[in-house]
Amino acid sequence: MPKIVWFNGTLMPLENAVVPAGDHAHLYGDGLFEGIRIYNGKIFRFDEHVERLYHGAKMMGFLNMMPMATMKQAILETCATSEVTEGYIRLNLTRGTGLGLDPKNIDQTPNVMIMVNTLALYPREAYETGLKVITTSFRVMPADSLDPRLKCIGRYAANIMAKAEANRAGAGEGLMLNQQGYVAECTGDNIFIIKDGVIRTPHPSCGILKGITRDTVIELAGRAGIPVEETYITMFDIYACDEAFLTGTAAEVIPMVELDGQLMGDGKPGPVTKQIMAAFREETNVGTDIPVAQKV
Ligand SMILES: Cc1ncc(COP(=O)(O)O)c(C=O)c1O
Repeated sequence: MPKIVWFNGTLMPLENAVVPAGDHAHLYGDGLFEGIRIYNGKIFRFDEHVERLYHGAKMMGFLNMMPMATMKQAILETCATSEVTEGYIRLNLTRGTGLGLDPKNIDQTPNVMIMVNTLALYPREAYETGLKVITTSFRVMPADSLDPRLKCIGRYAANIMAKAEANRAGAGEGLMLNQQGYVAECTGDNIFIIKDGVIRTPHPSCGILKGITRDTVIELAGRAGIPVEETYITMFDIYACDEAFLTGTAAEVIPMVELDGQLMGDGKPGPVTKQIMAAFREETNVGTDIPVAQKV
């Protein structure tokens, strides 16, 4: 049973899973999600993902949340049942069910979905040759509208349009700036640039999702003694950088070799990028075991 869904306590094959028509994320995007990787039978950065989801739920004022420990147990049991050892967990949490914007008029019992699936975002060669990226015409939403640190389902409509714009330009990803014109992030990944041996990435206040892969890379660079700055990055900084790469749960660490037709350095993945990619690959061996004994 490799591709399965746990929905509000019931397990089913992916093809049988349906969402209630009145689900508040289905109607209004009023929900949060997490994408989590399974590497070699272990869940990567499990606690960090579940905690980010619960922090988001607190910020959005979701009520009647199941205890975090119960959520984790449900995820582990779903993974155990699926027997997927290399895959992707999609965790969705919505405010509840009911028509109308006003939360007080709906049943605020969150709907929870745990989907275990497989994933291959980019072909293997893309990790060797690197991605072409374009700057999209879509800006990240300002934090005083919808804080980009919230992995809110509704906000992704803009990212999907930005991704489609990148597709039309034949690019692998689309870069989004913030309202001030500083670099924020790509449609589904964080961005890092390297200049003179220093790694730089937009500060969280630039309007980015504080990516868990981003945090991992910052930690790995620290361990390797490579300086990292979380700072303000302009288009000039990117065009003039030596190397660049993107990070995300789905994309992992992938070189970015071109922006808007301009090459990063010599247009090939650089040495620091390759070092971080190798360190990341090694780090994926560390994770939370999916216990076979918990099979349901
Ligand atoms: C907009 C955006 N930025 C960055 C990321 C990377 O975050 P993470 O490393 O936690 O997957 C994602 C991942 O989904 C994303 O959607």
